[in-house]
Amino acid sequence: MAFALSRRQFLAGVSAMGTTSLSSRVWSAAPRPALPIPPLMDGTKGDPVDLEIRSGTWSFMPGIHTPTLGISQDYLAPTIRTRRKSELNLHYRNTLDEGVSIHGHGLHVPGEVDGGPQLEISPGGVWQPKLMIAQPAATCWYHSHTHGKSGEQTYRGLAGMILIDDDDTDAMDLPKRYGIDDLPVIIQDRTFDTEGRLVYSLMEAEEDGWYGNTVVINGAIAPVAKVPPGKVRLRILNGANARFYFVAFADGRRFQKIASDGGLLPSPVPLTSMEMSPGERCEIIVDLLDGNNADLLMLFEDVIDDEGDGTSQIDLSRYPSNLLAESRLSLRVDHSLSAETAPLPDTLATITRPREDEIVRTREFSLTMDHSGGHAGHSGHAMMDMAINGASMDMSVINERVQRGVWERWSIRSDQGAHPFHAHGCSFLIEQAEGEAASADQQGWKDVVVLDDDDWSSIVVRFDHEATDRFPYMYHCHILEHEDRGMMGQFTVT
Ligand code: C2O
Ligand code: CU
Ligand code: CU
Repeated sequence: MAFALSRRQFLAGVSAMGTTSLSSRVWSAAPRPALPIPPLMDGTKGDPVDLEIRSGTWSFMPGIHTPTLGISQDYLAPTIRTRRKSELNLHYRNTLDEGVSIHGHGLHVPGEVDGGPQLEISPGGVWQPKLMIAQPAATCWYHSHTHGKSGEQTYRGLAGMILIDDDDTDAMDLPKRYGIDDLPVIIQDRTFDTEGRLVYSLMEAEEDGWYGNTVVINGAIAPVAKVPPGKVRLRILNGANARFYFVAFADGRRFQKIASDGGLLPSPVPLTSMEMSPGERCEIIVDLLDGNNADLLMLFEDVIDDEGDGTSQIDLSRYPSNLLAESRLSLRVDHSLSAETAPLPDTLATITRPREDEIVRTREFSLTMDHSGGHAGHSGHAMMDMAINGASMDMSVINERVQRGVWERWSIRSDQGAHPFHAHGCSFLIEQAEGEAASADQQGWKDVVVLDDDDWSSIVVRFDHEATDRFPYMYHCHILEHEDRGMMGQFTVT
């Protein structure tokens, strides 16, 4: 796939920024931080999970206190554990002085509890959605979806993971001890000013969205995790606002991808690298039975200029060395921890695609970034018109009406640049990604599909829950600056 020129040209800019980033000055002398593991909140019993949306202070770098946002903690949010066939009760309280919507990304729940922009919690307000979880085991997440402010609020910290378990995964030999051999890995990039404050501006974002110059993993720079000498499961979320990541181990070792956005793949897929777009999740298993430590690298895909077709070996010498040192999660084998060593199951899930005669209709979506409109000379994208099928997000307009319980084919394309397209309320199956048949590791349930200029991506999708005119679902680009600038539409399911 080919990305727009602007993404490649950014290489020069990033390398320069890397040498002057606050983190590379402050951090290089300090000991490596431990990987922060967000506390696990058990939502499986139906008891209310209390979630306080608040401001805080977080040390991304030793001795530097950065003002942040978080949910029941200073930065990011607890990991919520739920279960198929159970009711998840969330009790949000917004203590900020601005409105906040929090969306459960990847959850198959009705529009009225989906947490889209219509469901804004006012300052001091509460929101208590009850979610019936009916879908298979998956790694989902929750994040700010406030109208026009998703990018800024997510950047400052309003994001966390939701883990869905089910009987099938319980019965499988998979690492499942949270924080020991089953680790949440939330990748983000942030830029800090000289005082250590987060720098963000929707107005000044480039056309490709807001790129931070420093990789943070669960809120830490180049953290270290102690892991047992066996199989380790990493639940990786690209929680960045705009960046695409190239993920691979520094020693080029092979790993097994076992799950995509919406749950387990049909069978494990061996890879040595992968690309992750904003909003995507991948669960991988790495085997540390050999007792060697392993460093997982999260590289800016626009800098490495390689999208990770699953087999490529990267030329690390081309990557700015200070950035390379910072862009990693180090797994250090601790022989005192008991290890999961059972072989991975050959079969993980059965995924049934619809027959052609079950697909009742086709819709087309075209994502556009329009430079025209009399704003010539503006360097950022603030004045660009971002739209889907010619329409920018308007809370008073329902753009599509979908029938519940039937299969549809959605064909999506971009007129310029790469965009991760996401739809609420469903998982879908990719037929074609950027003009090519979906690769083995893209053959599972997804809720984000990447499209690039001149190529169509197509998906088959079915919505099983209701979304009304009052509480519709959203489809949008998951580059949050594109979403906030209007590359989003609303649809009902009835
Ligand atoms: Cu992850 Cu509509 O978003
Ligand atoms: Cu979503
Ligand atoms: Cu986009």
